[in-house]
Amino acid sequence: MLAVEGLNVSYAGSAALNGVSLVVQAEELICVIGANGAGKTSLIRSIAGIVGPASGRIVWRGKDIVGMSPWEICELGIAQVPEGREVFANLSVEDNLVIGGSLKRARGRRDANLQRVYELFPRLDERRRQSAGTLSGGEQQMVAIGRAMMSEPEMIMFDEPSIGLSPALTTVMFDVVKRLHDDKITILLVEQNVASSLSIGNRGYVLENGSVVLEGSGQDLLSNEDVRRAYLGL
Ligand SMILES: Nc1ncnc2c1ncn2[C@@H]1O[C@H](COP(=O)(O)OP(=O)(O)OP(=O)(O)O)[C@@H](O)[C@H]1O
Ligand SMILES: [Mg+2]
Repeated sequence: MLAVEGLNVSYAGSAALNGVSLVVQAEELICVIGANGAGKTSLIRSIAGIVGPASGRIVWRGKDIVGMSPWEICELGIAQVPEGREVFANLSVEDNLVIGGSLKRARGRRDANLQRVYELFPRLDERRRQSAGTLSGGEQQMVAIGRAMMSEPEMIMFDEPSIGLSPALTTVMFDVVKRLHDDKITILLVEQNVASSLSIGNRGYVLENGSVVLEGSGQDLLSNEDVRRAYLGL
């Protein structure tokens, strides 16, 4: 479904991604793990069309999408739940969701999609008219996920959805990711919560200093000595 080929990204001459290649098959749940500064967000932002790569290809269903606008990329069915949630603080919960549903691909089914989001997150239903900036961190994460769901995406990219959440809410968040995957949405999950993400992932990639250094099934990576030492403290 998605193939990233030899992706190079740099900011003002300093490299953030060096020849990253990875593939995501339809309906897979793929994890990308890596330390702070490894390039995880740069990878997601490149796929989303927010950061322009210096070279390399990003092929979605056979078509190179490098150079397309973020808006056009969303219309292809690629949504993201960005690092830091990025909700519109002054807008209500519902208006944040409606923005996610304003793409052509999903506009006609807005009310049904809102209903789906509220079923998944009853807390958002209770807070429809509350401004998103006054929500707790966990509730804002729900808005960011709901907003992505509103565009009826084929693939959702999550950038550290559990960061800053309590252990209980972290469990809820991983359950939600798993549930979306069970609903046949393809998932690209970037996480620092390595054990939880690899345990729900089909496959994973380890990013170090902008390069893929290891890849394998979730189980293989979980039992890999280097992964255990570097990311699990074992
Ligand atoms: N807009 C930017 N301008 C300059 N340098 C940047 C920019 N964004 C990222 N970088 C640099 O690129 C490298 C990769 O950053 P990136 O945010 O992709 O890493 P990350 O794996 O998401 O890290 P974290 O786990 O802390 O979110 C870092 O060295 C970072 O300082
Ligand atoms: Mg990041």
